[in-house]
Amino acid sequence: MKRRTLLLGSAGLLAAGAVIKRPKDMGQPYEPYFAALNAELKANGPMRPSLVIDLDRLDHNIDLVSASVRKHPGRQFRIVEKSLPSPKLLEYISKRANTNRLMSFHQPFLSHDAAMFPMSDLLLGKPLPARSAELFYKSLTGPFDPSRQLQWLIDTPERAAQYLDLAKSLGTRMRLNLELDVGLHRGGLAAGEALAATLKLIAANPALLEFSGFMGYDPFVAMVPSLLGSHEELLAKVMARYQAAVDQTRRDFAPLWRPETLTLNTAGSPTYKLHESESLSNDISVGTGLLKPSHYDLVTLAEHQPAVFIATPVLKATGPIQIPALDAKSKVFSWWDVNQRETYFIYGGFWMADYESPRGLQFNEIFGHSSNQEIVNASASVGLKVDDQVFFRPTQVEGVLLQFGDLIATRGGKIVEYWPVFS
Ligand SMILES: Cc1ncc(COP(=O)(O)O)c(C=O)c1O
Repeated sequence: MKRRTLLLGSAGLLAAGAVIKRPKDMGQPYEPYFAALNAELKANGPMRPSLVIDLDRLDHNIDLVSASVRKHPGRQFRIVEKSLPSPKLLEYISKRANTNRLMSFHQPFLSHDAAMFPMSDLLLGKPLPARSAELFYKSLTGPFDPSRQLQWLIDTPERAAQYLDLAKSLGTRMRLNLELDVGLHRGGLAAGEALAATLKLIAANPALLEFSGFMGYDPFVAMVPSLLGSHEELLAKVMARYQAAVDQTRRDFAPLWRPETLTLNTAGSPTYKLHESESLSNDISVGTGLLKPSHYDLVTLAEHQPAVFIATPVLKATGPIQIPALDAKSKVFSWWDVNQRETYFIYGGFWMADYESPRGLQFNEIFGHSSNQEIVNASASVGLKVDDQVFFRPTQVEGVLLQFGDLIATRGGKIVEYWPVFS
């Protein structure tokens, strides 16, 4: 019996040995781009967690979108404000792309937009409660004229009725853009009864409401597994739904259909390029793709360059990993795994981001996360020292950009400006 256990045990160990391979050295020093950025931030940066925007790369990305949108005469580029929530960043993009169009998703930001960009053309990207819209009007000062420059987004006949009541009580005229469900299934209208009811309400109240167009958002076209359809097939279905709403409006509400005044919005970063193949829409939204966080590593954005990084200094370098309470017994980890032979504690951490440079940094699951001083393990090959920067690539931008205070804008690897974010 004992011999059998021994044999089984040895066989088990051999099998485990075959499966569990000793980790290879994953560490590499900074690439030249990050070595230069590290030197600049150490010399001139704030030496705390910072959000760095590379203006050379941002320019490249803006130009790609502008060129794509320009392929259709009359089509305009609308900047998705929530994804780039810094007035200076928005101003920079709007100048280079030559557009005054913004898509907003948050009443306080919308109010900032109207105050800071009084010449802008604003379209809501989601339907806000009527009370939230009311707060916008109550806080509005300055020359921005919502009756000409703002389109609220409406997703149901009930919300249209609420906005009608608000328009009445404020004694103002409102432009209503209708959210279409083009296949995302995040709410919105489709051709049919609810669309008819909404348009009927607008048509019956011309002194208070104006139909200003449609918005159909379709990121899934570029994001779902290709098994579910090619980009071309999925976009064709999106545009068929869009076209059905347009046809119904044109046919049954002809006086509302004034094409020269309508905003027929669509896309988003994942799909803007695909829309070169259709000519129904005249307004293309893009935000995140201009910075390209890692969740936007999509085939459709292959030409875009990552233009945003988190940089934070190493505060402590403590050598081989030591786990609290395991103390000297922790040696087994660094003996087994070369990537645990250096331990760093950084300023901040636990962001929605992945390690970017130097290569081969890893989080320690046993030690756990800290937003104050996050642990980072690596091999000696990374060559990090106290005060060097650890660079991360955010996975998304709309939340992450707001967590670091002023953005650091760089050009040619040098800090050129500090840009406050929305508060
Ligand atoms: C309605 C709408 N349009 C466009 C976008 C595209 O934004 P981005 O380009 O930042 O992905 C979004 C993103 O959430 C959206 O909700």
